Amino acid sequence: MITARSTPNIALIKYWGNRHEEFRLCAGESTSMTLDGPYVDVTVDYADTLHVTSSNKVMTAESVVRFQKTLELIQAYLTTIDNCDVTNLSIDIQSHIPPSIGLASSAAVFSGLAKAIAGLVEIPLTDEQISVMARLGSGSASRSIFGGYGAIRNEENMFIDGSKGWQIADENHWKLHDIIIVPSTEEKKVGSTEGHANAETSPHYKQRLSDIAKRRQKECIDAIAHKDFEHLQTVAEQDAMNMHLCMQTQTPELNYLSDETHRIITEIQEIRTSEHLPVLYTMDAGPTVHLFCEEEAKERILSYANEQEGCQIFEASTGSGAHLI
Ligand code: PMV
Repeated sequence: MITARSTPNIALIKYWGNRHEEFRLCAGESTSMTLDGPYVDVTVDYADTLHVTSSNKVMTAESVVRFQKTLELIQAYLTTIDNCDVTNLSIDIQSHIPPSIGLASSAAVFSGLAKAIAGLVEIPLTDEQISVMARLGSGSASRSIFGGYGAIRNEENMFIDGSKGWQIADENHWKLHDIIIVPSTEEKKVGSTEGHANAETSPHYKQRLSDIAKRRQKECIDAIAHKDFEHLQTVAEQDAMNMHLCMQTQTPELNYLSDETHRIITEIQEIRTSEHLPVLYTMDAGPTVHLFCEEEAKERILSYANEQEGCQIFEASTGSGAHLI
């Protein structure tokens, strides 16, 4: 029996849409920061049949099928490396992350699962290989394998390992804070797996992929490497708003942002201009606003967040990625 602990990561260049749905080969490259909490513990062991339990989520037949499919794909991938059988496992998830509120719980769960399986099988695996296993359950999960700042790069082929995670810099490179404002804890109606499949129907999607490939991914990586918050802010906000434009114009349309999200964005823009604060906003598949900031802005942003009525607030910093406990 092996347990891995993992956390969400929040993308600064977002992954939206696949080149290959079944293998979850990402259409575009992406970049993120791994958070230091909240965490998920995933325990795996060999079993006669697949058995999944979760501390905070009802395991519907649909969720069990997702785990089954993920294990089959991980099995197919591991077979290209060595012999093992991981299709029948007992999986226990002890999660401290509220599901479906834009806090990337699936990234933490599937990175934890991949790390735990890597600990269970007796095959030496690199973090890059473990990131491929994580991606087979949730594309963004491949970035949580790494501490600090992670990214996904694409190879030109369509093999099962054609998109891989890598580490831009570890958690000691640049400590940023993520002040998370959750306006609604309602479960979202359409999850990202379903949403990715229709990404190409947006008239803005082709341009999005081209901008990321030609410019945005590199600019984001450079900004992180040089700890250049101003550039990080510009490119991350451009990319987040562009992903939401694509989501809102795909068929059927996906409107994850709420009036509250837009109000918070406007107020943050005003505060940062008038008070010269290093803070940026980004949103994933939900109305939750992530306010990334440097140490000097943290107290001010936190006090702003705490003034928001009816919102849940979480606080996180740069984390160390998935690890065995
Ligand atoms: O990993 P998935 O399939 O849950 O997709 C995540 C997509 C976004 O959160 C919207 C963006 C990202 O890069 O994390």
